[in-house]
Amino acid sequence: MAITITVNGTARTLDVEPEMPLLWALREVLGLTGTKFGCGISACGACTVHLDGRAVRSCVLPISAADGKTVTTIEGLAQDGTLHKVQQAWIAHQVPQCGYCQSGMIMAVAELLTRTPAPTDEEIDAGVTNICRCGTFARVRAAIHAAAGTEGATS
Ligand code: FES
Ligand code: FES
Repeated sequence: MAITITVNGTARTLDVEPEMPLLWALREVLGLTGTKFGCGISACGACTVHLDGRAVRSCVLPISAADGKTVTTIEGLAQDGTLHKVQQAWIAHQVPQCGYCQSGMIMAVAELLTRTPAPTDEEIDAGVTNICRCGTFARVRAAIHAAAGTEGATS
């Protein structure tokens, strides 16, 4: 089945089975390996990408559901050579440890800040449910507040 998706600004036509998970298409067909496989059951968020601007867990999303839509992966988050403000905050706060969960975490946070530019701690907890085995959650929270400009605010 021919599927057409726009990935990081480029239209791509893929001849794949319609039930192939979007994550597989990104990693195995398009070679975009920045998006990671963690659990495969929509539990961890390592595979998070944006589908028409919304964060989705690509391990459980059939490629057919992305037909005609726009996908952004971690490789496409920076624009014109400038890192996204979330990526900049991640560097400043030295968030990653092993790094495995971090591309999905960053994509989830980038979408949260689009929907909720100045999130409270409660909104962060509700909006970013990604799992990090290295336990970077405190640094993630601090970096989110830095990227949102709410550093030091009580919420
Ligand atoms: S790999 Fe998709 S949610 Fe864990
Ligand atoms: S930084 Fe290692 S799993 Fe999150």
